Amino acid sequence: MSIHILGIFGSLRQESSNQGLVKLAQKLAPTDVTFTFYDKIGSLPFYNEDLEEPSRTPSNVVEWRNLVTSADALFIASPEYNFGPSAVLKNAIDWATRPMGQHALSGKVISLMSSSGGTGGAHMIEQLGGILGLLGNTMLSEPSGQIAKGADRISANGTTTDPAIEALVRTRLQALVDTANNLGK
Ligand SMILES: Cc1cc2nc3c(=O)[nH]c(=O)nc-3n(C[C@H](O)[C@H](O)[C@H](O)COP(=O)(O)O)c2cc1C
Repeated sequence: MSIHILGIFGSLRQESSNQGLVKLAQKLAPTDVTFTFYDKIGSLPFYNEDLEEPSRTPSNVVEWRNLVTSADALFIASPEYNFGPSAVLKNAIDWATRPMGQHALSGKVISLMSSSGGTGGAHMIEQLGGILGLLGNTMLSEPSGQIAKGADRISANGTTTDPAIEALVRTRLQALVDTANNLGK
């Protein structure tokens, strides 16, 4: 059966380079892989446990959880903001981790990359990678997903002027597919 990869980007900026990384990955995905991406994390409300009452859960939250559930693997690209993850991505992750005990965000194979400023997202990858690992996911660690000053070289439509970035995305994509296959996905 074909592996389903869900792409997620953690920046709402129209010209987001992290959006570009996800779109580049979709273009480079092997033909036997289904690669879709979610581009509406900005429409999710702030997490509120009161909304866990099923009759009150917003329909876009249900849609988001179902998309995560249906994916075998996640390809996440997100900026580092103030040495940590973007709030909008952390919020989407919090929604995906409820209801407790039967949540969507466990057992996935995850590639976490970052097009950021000078750090290349090192702190964000360490923090968020740790969180996603604690949630029961398999995180790709090599090669490093950090890209410093990526916005200069990656367009939001998924093109890059830097062949090394294209090669990095291709390598991580293949590692994601290989790891998912090895885990019997
Ligand atoms: C509020 C804010 C905080 C930031 N903090 C960091 C940081 O701690 N480390 C870093 O490398 N870049 C930092 N940056 C730069 C962004 O990561 C960079 O502009 C990135 O390319 C934005 O992603 P995007 O192109 O997908 O929108 C920060 C930018 C903003 C707006």
